[in-house]
Amino acid sequence: MRLSCFVSLLNVEPVSMLSSFRRRHKQLLQKRWKKNAFFAIGTFALFASVKSMAAGNEAEITAQRLGSGNPVAGKEKSEIGRCQECHGADGISSDARIPNHAGQYANYLVKQLSNFQSGERSHEVMTIMSEDLSPTDMADIAAYFASQKTMQGEAAGDNRLAGNLFANGDQARGISSCASCHGKNGKGNIAANVAYPVIGGQRRVYLRSQLINWKLGDRRNSPDGVMNKVAQSLSDDEIEDLADYISGL
Ligand code: HEC
Ligand code: HEC
Repeated sequence: MRLSCFVSLLNVEPVSMLSSFRRRHKQLLQKRWKKNAFFAIGTFALFASVKSMAAGNEAEITAQRLGSGNPVAGKEKSEIGRCQECHGADGISSDARIPNHAGQYANYLVKQLSNFQSGERSHEVMTIMSEDLSPTDMADIAAYFASQKTMQGEAAGDNRLAGNLFANGDQARGISSCASCHGKNGKGNIAANVAYPVIGGQRRVYLRSQLINWKLGDRRNSPDGVMNKVAQSLSDDEIEDLADYISGL
């Protein structure tokens, strides 16, 4: 029931429906969050002590993925803020047009939320959903989703052309390989403070729509327009095949 309501929100719907959703979302955030602030402070202390017990390289990698936020507070905030209803309690989304966040780099998620807020990236639903989030809310919610088991596709498929573009790019057309930035199997990377998002195992329909948005210039928030350059060189068939291949990784 709830799901179908959200799914219809993604289609062209009357403005009144969106604004009532926005009101309810605001009220929920304000009311429940006040009530739970005390609880969150307590759990933060707990989280800090668990964090200090972790050691070694793996802890460093995890810390890099989670960023500066508090995943315990983020769990609560993403529930109250209704993010989980679309993006899943475990970060696996409820609809093929909605991206997974499971194991996504927190820095990347935070960047997107502030881009939605500033209008650098636009989307009818996400512009509203990000409107009232403070930088701390963003960091906490992002840390929560980043801490979930990383999204995983079912199988890479056997499309040789897409597999080749993904792994090696196409020098003749100046296309760098996707893996050189998005990491092995598209599981993401952080280098020189730029977060290269996890794309391997992401929803196929979402991947395709983003590649088309980059190609048409409807989305232009990547550093130095790098994703616009990449996508402009791809044919529509290649975008279709890449989305299929990458979602299986
Ligand atoms: C009604 C469903 C819905 C709700 C509720 C919702 N989202 Fe989204 N979210 C989407 C859709 C759809 C997109 C894809 C936008 C696009 O196509 O550009 C998205 C995209 C995002 C992205 C960008 C992800 C990426 O890989 O680039 C982030 C981050 C995000 N949402 C966070 C949140 C947070 C945090 C909340 C709660 C405050 C939230 N969302 C609530 C539907 C929703
Ligand atoms: C030079 C580095 C680089 C290369 C090469 C590259 N990307 Fe990206 N890509 C990025 C960065 C950085 C972002 C994040 C942009 C932002 O901050 O919004 C991104 C974002 C994306 C997204 C959006 C993910 C989301 O969750 O919304 C998709 C899809 C994507 N890239 C696919 C590809 C594919 C497919 C290829 C290969 C054909 C590729 N990229 C090659 C750097 C790169």
